[in-house]
Amino acid sequence: MIDLEGQVALITGASRGIGRATALKLAEAGADVIINYVTSQTAARELADQIAAMGRRTASIKADVSEPEDIASMLEFVGSEFGHLDVLVSNAASGGFRSLREATPQHFESTMNTNVRALMLLTQAALPLMADASAARRRKIVALSSHGSHRALPAYGLIGASKAALESLARHLALEVGNQGINVNVLLAGLVETDSTRGFPGSDQAFATVASRRLVGDKTLSPESVAEAILFLCSPLSDLVQGQTLVVDGGETLHG
Ligand SMILES: NC(=O)c1ccc[n+]([C@@H]2O[C@H](COP(=O)([O-])OP(=O)(O)OC[C@H]3O[C@@H](n4cnc5c(N)ncnc54)[C@H](OP(=O)(O)O)[C@@H]3O)[C@@H](O)[C@H]2O)c1
Repeated sequence: MIDLEGQVALITGASRGIGRATALKLAEAGADVIINYVTSQTAARELADQIAAMGRRTASIKADVSEPEDIASMLEFVGSEFGHLDVLVSNAASGGFRSLREATPQHFESTMNTNVRALMLLTQAALPLMADASAARRRKIVALSSHGSHRALPAYGLIGASKAALESLARHLALEVGNQGINVNVLLAGLVETDSTRGFPGSDQAFATVASRRLVGDKTLSPESVAEAILFLCSPLSDLVQGQTLVVDGGETLHG
C-alpha cells in the first residue's frame, strides 16, 4: 500500500475531472492536499471539506496558472501554511478546441502559458519548498499530457502542440533537478470523459471508438484510474522513473 502520510501535495486544476480525482486519491493515501482552482470556488471548497473529513490538512486556493504572479502567491501560501512541498501535480490545462486556421496569436499564447509555461514557473517556485536535505524521500513533480502530443487530432492543434512542448520541458526539468532529490515525470492519459472532453466536437463517437480499442477487458479509463497512475508517480514506488512519459490508455494506441 502507498503511504503518503506527512507529505504535502499541491494539485493544479483540482476542482474538477482528473485533478479532483487525484486530490482524493492522494488524500486517501495519507497526503495533505492543496486544491488549486481558477473559477470553480464552490467545487473546490466542497472537495476541501471532503478531504478534511478524511482527517487530512487541506486548503483550496484560487490561482490562474497562466499568470506568473498567481503562481508566485500560491506557492508563497503553500510555504507559509504548510512549510514544505513533497508533491506537485501540474494538471490544469486549457486551450479550447479550435482549428489552427482560426487560431489567433492570443489563443496560442494563452494555451502555451497555461499548459507549458506554468510547469516551468510552478517548478521554479516549488524548488525552495522541495529542497529539504534532511528528507530521505524523493519529491515528485507530475504533469499531464495527452495523445495530441504525438498524434494529429481534429481541433486539437494548439493543445497538442502545447502537450508536446510540455513533455520536452518535463524531460529537461528532470535533467536539471533530478540530482536535487526531485523526480519529474509526465502522465499521458488516453481519452477520459470529463467536462473538457465532453465539449470536444464529436465526443460521443470518440468515446465509443476509443473504448472499443482498449485491450483491458471491460475496464474503463476514468479520472480515478488516471489518478491511480498519478499516485504511483507520486510515490516511492516510482523513485527510479525519471524524466519519462507514462502512457495510461488501456492499450488503445497499440493498434496499427
Ligand atoms: N480528459 C481527458 O481525456 C484527458 C486526456 C489526457 C490528458 N488530459 C489532461 O489532464 C488534465 C486535466 O484534464 P480534465 O479533462 O480533467 O480537465 P477538466 O475536467 O476540464 O478540468 C480542468 C481543471 O483545470 C482548471 N483550470 C483550467 N484553467 C486553469 C488555469 N488557468 N489556472 C488554474 N486552473 C485552471 C479548472 O479549474 P476551474 O474548475 O476552476 O475552472 C479545472 O479544475 C489536463 O492537463 C488535460 O490536458 C485529459
